Amino acid sequence: MQRRLKIGVLYSRVRVEEKWIFAAMEKRGIDYERLDDRAISFDLENPKPWRAFDAVLERSISYTSGLYALRLLNSFGVPTVNTAAVAEVCGDKLTTSAMLAKAGVAQPRNVVAFTPEAALEAIEAFGYPVVLKPVVGSWGRLLAKINDRDAAEAVLEHKATLGSVQHSVFYIQEFIEKPGRDIRAILIGDRVLTAMYRNSEHWITNTARGGSGELCPITPEIEDICLRASKAVGGGLLGVDLIEHSERGYLVNEINHTMEFHTMQPLSGIDIAGEIVEYAVQIAEGKMQNAE
Ligand SMILES: Nc1ncnc2c1ncn2[C@@H]1O[C@H](COP(=O)(O)OP(=O)(O)O)[C@@H](O)[C@H]1O
Ligand SMILES: [Mg+2]
Repeated sequence: MQRRLKIGVLYSRVRVEEKWIFAAMEKRGIDYERLDDRAISFDLENPKPWRAFDAVLERSISYTSGLYALRLLNSFGVPTVNTAAVAEVCGDKLTTSAMLAKAGVAQPRNVVAFTPEAALEAIEAFGYPVVLKPVVGSWGRLLAKINDRDAAEAVLEHKATLGSVQHSVFYIQEFIEKPGRDIRAILIGDRVLTAMYRNSEHWITNTARGGSGELCPITPEIEDICLRASKAVGGGLLGVDLIEHSERGYLVNEINHTMEFHTMQPLSGIDIAGEIVEYAVQIAEGKMQNAE
């Protein structure tokens, strides 16, 4: 008798997305297990229980827990959505930028420095305004738009004094005068599933910060840059953020490897959770080779 596929879903909190994913698993009669990242543990000498999974879908809110779980699972030979290699790149904005630059994908200009002094010098050379971002972060948290030298000095000193070790990497980005919105696209493999504008009065347009969703038609230009961005970071199930520049066209702002889609699913009418589950099944069946 053929063995049934078994899929794990690693999560931190059952958000609406996880509810939809669990429901999509149940609807398809898939043998799945909910893996609470606050309760699980890995015995490195005993990978056997983990090898019972044909694939694990990672939905951790904590980047660190998710990343280490993926590394262990991949080292045990368990396929994951996404791979540890992709999570490593996408979870770190600077690493993402480096991969995009290497692949020649359009993005805002970035400069990196490791001390407040070198950062100030780089910012002055860059010209104002600039954006300073933590290399690891989400929901628009701790982003700073810096309009002049006084603000630069203040933010750099605060980061150096109060910030965690991650804040000692000064990731400085050109501020893009975008048209009151950015674009979020969801990709599965080589398919752009859906895209939306995130409109906001504020320069930070995350829906977690009050940005409102509006369906965005997937033009050939959007499709092209999204696919190239996905390829640059290793591919998989990804949320690609685009910023529109009046002359340079679409720029890739960041790529998310465990995105929320509570706004996009009802807006697009696409069963994103169902598509994610189908993708996890394909990975589990070993039909699709996830790029390393
Ligand atoms: N360089 C920039 N120029 C203009 N707007 C930006 C820039 N960087 C970020 N933003 C705005 O801030 C939002 C959050 O930035 P992002 O880098 O995606 O951080 P997070 O990971 O917290 O979502 C983006 O969706 C965009 O609206
Ligand atoms: Mg973002």
